[in-house]
Amino acid sequence: MSVSSSLPHESAGLHVTGQARYVDDLPVPAGCLHLAFGMSSVARGMITAIDLEAVRAAPGVVAVYSAADFAVMPDCSPSLHDEPLLAVGEVHYLGQPVFVVVAESHLAARRAARLGRISYDERPAILTVEDALAAGSRFEGGPVIWARGDAAEAIAGAERVVEGSFEIGGQEHFYLEGQAALVLPQEDGAVVYSSTQHPTEIQHKVAEALDLPMHAVRVEMRRMGGGFGGKESQGNALAVACAVAAARTGLPCKMRYDRDDDMMITGKRHDFRIRYRAGVDTDGRVLGLEVTHLVRCGWSMDLSLPVADRAMLHADNAYWLPAVRIESHRLRTNTQSATAFRGFGGPQGMIGVERVMDHVAHTLGLNPLAVRRANYYPEASEAEAGPGEVTQDEPEVTGADRDLTSRGAVAEAGGPAPRTPRDISASKKTTPYGMEVEDFILHGLTEELQKSSNFAARQAAISEWNSTNAILKKGIALTPVKFGISFTLTHLNQAGALVHVYQDGSVQLNHGGTEMGQGLHRKVAQVAAAAFGIDDGRIRITATDTGKVPNTSATAASSGADLNGMAVKAACDTLRGRIAAFVAEKHGGTAAEVHFAGGKVFVGTEELTWEQAVAATYQGRVSLSATGFYATPKITWDRVKGQGRPFFYFAYGASVSEVVIDTLTGEYRILRADILHDCGTSLNPALDLGQIEGGYVQGAGWLTTEELVWDAKGRLRTHAPSTYKIPACSDRPGQFNVGLWQHPNREETIHRSKAVGEPPFMHGISAFLALSAACAACGPHYPALDAPATPERVLAAVARARGPKTACNDEL
Ligand code: MTE
Ligand code: MOS
Repeated sequence: MSVSSSLPHESAGLHVTGQARYVDDLPVPAGCLHLAFGMSSVARGMITAIDLEAVRAAPGVVAVYSAADFAVMPDCSPSLHDEPLLAVGEVHYLGQPVFVVVAESHLAARRAARLGRISYDERPAILTVEDALAAGSRFEGGPVIWARGDAAEAIAGAERVVEGSFEIGGQEHFYLEGQAALVLPQEDGAVVYSSTQHPTEIQHKVAEALDLPMHAVRVEMRRMGGGFGGKESQGNALAVACAVAAARTGLPCKMRYDRDDDMMITGKRHDFRIRYRAGVDTDGRVLGLEVTHLVRCGWSMDLSLPVADRAMLHADNAYWLPAVRIESHRLRTNTQSATAFRGFGGPQGMIGVERVMDHVAHTLGLNPLAVRRANYYPEASEAEAGPGEVTQDEPEVTGADRDLTSRGAVAEAGGPAPRTPRDISASKKTTPYGMEVEDFILHGLTEELQKSSNFAARQAAISEWNSTNAILKKGIALTPVKFGISFTLTHLNQAGALVHVYQDGSVQLNHGGTEMGQGLHRKVAQVAAAAFGIDDGRIRITATDTGKVPNTSATAASSGADLNGMAVKAACDTLRGRIAAFVAEKHGGTAAEVHFAGGKVFVGTEELTWEQAVAATYQGRVSLSATGFYATPKITWDRVKGQGRPFFYFAYGASVSEVVIDTLTGEYRILRADILHDCGTSLNPALDLGQIEGGYVQGAGWLTTEELVWDAKGRLRTHAPSTYKIPACSDRPGQFNVGLWQHPNREETIHRSKAVGEPPFMHGISAFLALSAACAACGPHYPALDAPATPERVLAAVARARGPKTACNDEL
């Protein structure tokens, strides 16, 4: 077998038979203690008294710790040291851990945790965007502004101006396996089992909490039952709590959150309010765009700054914006600290400009696809034709936010999408942050998807349906994705590997990436198998282990296979070189001529089995263990200026969604989805298809049924599957056609593949805009649908589309 074959997930058999072990399934050592947090019942206030007598007296309780028990409170933050493990003096959100119970069983700990009596001097909680703006409650002092050209002037001079504002809800990760950690105290440190995407971070935070060097802590992670970004930083608290309790009691300590606690305590996707003002010509081409992101970050910094940055970096999505001003407010609120979630701000940034395209098309009475195509970046070859003239203005900071709302004019969409000829210049392929879009492939990809999804005919059929059906209205939308691949924090773009070839020819592979269901280990094993020319069955990937590969980055930013695949390949190439040199010397010929394929090693005219070659090399006293390392080339990024090449390359794709809504109830179904997605030369088409399907469904869930509701006191009311609705099997599109756009990555990535973990998530935007189109079919006004498009919001959008007095209204 080789790279690019559709092998199943390496744990598929274990998954389906229930034998795959997660942290909570590890057999616990004798005497293991269990932890549970006592949580704040107010969103903001000073703690005036903590009475834990009843907790201490509860059955099975071994110890209880609160702020009073620490000279220095351990910190759990991945960024700013602003996340005390337990509240010190004040609480910042409802659900914040205030004390921790250590007991003989999980249930005993949870029961006792409810008996704590905490008194507060309550303060007015800052919960909403309005609250935060009014109180000036934010990170980084003021808004971050990146600009190119003079957007205001371009808008002032434009033929038409379209403006609006909309809400985009957050999202609970709903990984099936909740957060969990198990810590075994050692004579000189700790061994930690943690459900984490970032073992090195856990190692770092545990070492810091125990006041030990990092070498005293080893973290192991076999697999997660889903992470989706929710296990980049949110596992720190459990691991640190267990480590502290284990150090104090000398016994193993374990903690796992119950689902409700998990949802109450941990951070979610950032919700955004986006305001936009676009000046366009009569073809819908954007001449100037102003966008404002109002980002609810929650109580602590966590990863909010890079998330908000990535939203700004995706405010252009697939579109050339000649003059643009992007303003980002990182608002601090008394809610769970919003964190990484698949796309890491990219989805929020992208949906802003997709909303602009939709609104412009509606206002001008143009086909939304034609407007999108008219604004696409040029093909790489087109752009090469003209002279480069990029202008860069110093970003300027201005005062108060304007309230921008408008509903567009009457318009009828329809007709085929023409290919607009455009004047070409090299500057047109430059993003607002100064990076060249060198391989813009969306023209061809979109055309192919238009054909394969039969887009034009279905658009016409839907217009026809809508003109003859009063109650059920249909909508269709095609949206593109251009997603930047690399961590924007440049130093994180590195990876290491450790490969052992044993004397029987079996291979043990270690790398810094973690397996969360995405199939990373299978892909990396395929890379190693290809390097050695052996069957995948000869390769075993061990648990991720900070004792084997140090200083790793989180498995995040979709770069798991890109980074670790390259590091593993480097290690394998070293070993192959050693084996080749040894057998060449013994059997004649040069090392360069030795060839590894089909489980054989070809040297000169001779042919050895892989096992014979390995055994001989071992007997020749040559090392069969090697490390590998990789650092992504070409990237540079100045976050203060908002300029550089933050991404090694872009991953592309496009999707078409068709929906039907019931205008009486607001209920809807996704009838059909067609996706064409760019994986470069796929490392494993089956796994990539799984990522694309899963990404679309999760993205559509974010924008449709998944609604987070906080009450006026700041209590999250949707903290269990009974009130928080993730997509079920029955919610997947009735027809679901997913295709891979198989062309090699122009950059030298691992076997010319492209990262696939996050980009397909954003195909869910086409489901949202199809719903918007269905609402728009109800009346003359722009429906201005908010996300998530719950049935209530769909009904409200239908009412807005109809407006106060319209024929459509009278009819019903
Ligand atoms: N797929 C599954 N099944 N489970 C997950 O938790 N996480 C996503 C994506 N796909 C996730 C997933 C996120 S947020 C990222 S960043 C990538 O996988 C991480 O893995 P990769 O870099 O190996 O693609
Ligand atoms: Mo993914 S949000 O980068 O873990």
